[in-house]
Amino acid sequence: MSTKNKKVIEWIEDVVKMCQPDKVHWCDGSKEESDRFFQQMVDSGAAIRLNQEKRPGCYLFRSHPSDVGRVEERTFIASRRKEDAGPLNNWIDPVELKKTMTELYTGCMKGRTMYVIPFSMGPIGSPISKIGIEVTDSLYVVENMRIMTRIGNEVLANLGEEDEFVRCLHSVGAPLAAGEQDVPWPCEPDLEKKFISHFPEERMIWSYGSGYGGNALLGKKCFALRIASVQARDEGWLAEHMLILGITDPQGNKKYIAGAFPSATGKTNLAMHIPTIPGWKVETIGDDIAWMRFGEDGRLYAINPEAGFFGVAPGTSMDSNPNAMRTIAQNTIFTNVALTDDGDVWWEGIGYDAPDHLIDWKGNDWTPDSKEPAAHPNARFTTPISQCPVIAPEWEDPMGVPISAILVGGRRPTTIPLVHQSFDWHHGIFLGLILGSEITAATISDNIGQVRRDPFAMLPFIGYHVCDYLQHWLDMGKKTDPEKLPKIFYVNWFRKDESGQYLWPGFGENSRVIKWIIERVSGCGKAVKTPIGYMPSPEDINTQDLEIAPGNLEKLLEVNKDMWIQEIASIKEYFGKFDRLPQDMKDELKALEQRIMVY
Ligand code: OXD
Ligand code: MN
Repeated sequence: MSTKNKKVIEWIEDVVKMCQPDKVHWCDGSKEESDRFFQQMVDSGAAIRLNQEKRPGCYLFRSHPSDVGRVEERTFIASRRKEDAGPLNNWIDPVELKKTMTELYTGCMKGRTMYVIPFSMGPIGSPISKIGIEVTDSLYVVENMRIMTRIGNEVLANLGEEDEFVRCLHSVGAPLAAGEQDVPWPCEPDLEKKFISHFPEERMIWSYGSGYGGNALLGKKCFALRIASVQARDEGWLAEHMLILGITDPQGNKKYIAGAFPSATGKTNLAMHIPTIPGWKVETIGDDIAWMRFGEDGRLYAINPEAGFFGVAPGTSMDSNPNAMRTIAQNTIFTNVALTDDGDVWWEGIGYDAPDHLIDWKGNDWTPDSKEPAAHPNARFTTPISQCPVIAPEWEDPMGVPISAILVGGRRPTTIPLVHQSFDWHHGIFLGLILGSEITAATISDNIGQVRRDPFAMLPFIGYHVCDYLQHWLDMGKKTDPEKLPKIFYVNWFRKDESGQYLWPGFGENSRVIKWIIERVSGCGKAVKTPIGYMPSPEDINTQDLEIAPGNLEKLLEVNKDMWIQEIASIKEYFGKFDRLPQDMKDELKALEQRIMVY
């Protein structure tokens, strides 16, 4: 250990006293350390080394069947005052929660090693980056954090003696008695004993009972969104659930776009899509999180605080996302995918048929006749961003990249057109607020057909009151010349016709819509003013070599008065949930209604 930061030393001492590990290991971040840990996990049966000819540096893990996803119902914002957590978060009084969790944590690392992971969200030393320290008793977490963030000695060396950091405590909640054999995926299977807790005023995270991604890799959703959104509010910047991409036109002009899309709506695919229009190039900066601040020139600059992709494997193929497939060819951790007899991976939607025999994500024999999927639908890959073939060379620029456009988009089979642009910043925030996806049979809910609103795709990730969050967005708009603010667009790749067929092909074809967006932010794009915003006419979208049924583009770009009347009624109902919605948002709704009624 090589830090003189007393706050770190004291905090680690306190955690050791409470959790009582057998040993403490400070992660140095070296390759040698990583190789040693993987060997240890292969030897213990926690990891399977994949065929090193086909997948060099790749490993497979199978979780406990109860520990396969984020647990939103066990995620808490323990602000001192309940009203600061707002209507979208689960709140528990922090004193009470610490008492409950201290009981769980007491002795929870007995028989295990406690790993201390100093990590940086964002390039080490960037003025936008922030340091955290995660303490965990899971080697799986250590190796995932090594990919997803920058870890080790260099980070600790960058933390000054007096510097603050985010305290991230994680335990799988499975102490070992003397001589007890460990299981491949230790966790606390009782849901009621799992806690993903945030103490926003203390910039602290306490996670207990789960080893899975978003619950356990605390740099990601817990820090980079929930805690960082509070830091961003206090310090005047934005921490958002957004991809970042760079796009270059045939003349060589490059612009940057950020995009908020709810989980599982193709953010990773869009972040690294291959444009179908000739001469255009997309480069990736991030697929999940953007931290954005104003630069000295008054423009909004974004960094990706992460260093890896934690993507959903099922559905990822050479058709849907060839760049992701190339990224995961090596040095990748696979979780809950199926294993082939020759030591490779397979999942539903990988783009080729399953072989005659697999071992499924639960470790059982599987054949194409099996009733259950071979890979868990939320099976994941954890892979270094640096391996992405279309990574932007400037992806680690400590100053970030200037954002010209912000996209928001969900899955909306009806009503919302392919693309519309907000009239201004306030109206753009309104579009972010009303963002949502239609509930389908894939969502466990009785409300099929209704819209699940997901403000800026941050529904489970805002660390404070949603109305204060919206006010913060409004205040950000006052910090600079309105001309310098990114323009905000609502896109919808998921519009369907009456027979349930998608009207738009999506994937690489989305570049046609992005081309129009780039033309708009460059001041040369044509648009018509409609009651909902600025929209292209069908002829403003490049359709060269596009395979699309006649009339579809017209349908995709229509504003249907009756549907918008229904939409407004649904937004009114949604607004009823908020006790102190900014007046600007109520005014936007009123103005929309007036424009629609005279349309
Ligand atoms: C998510 C994710 O759930 O990125 O949003 O994993
Ligand atoms: Mn996400």
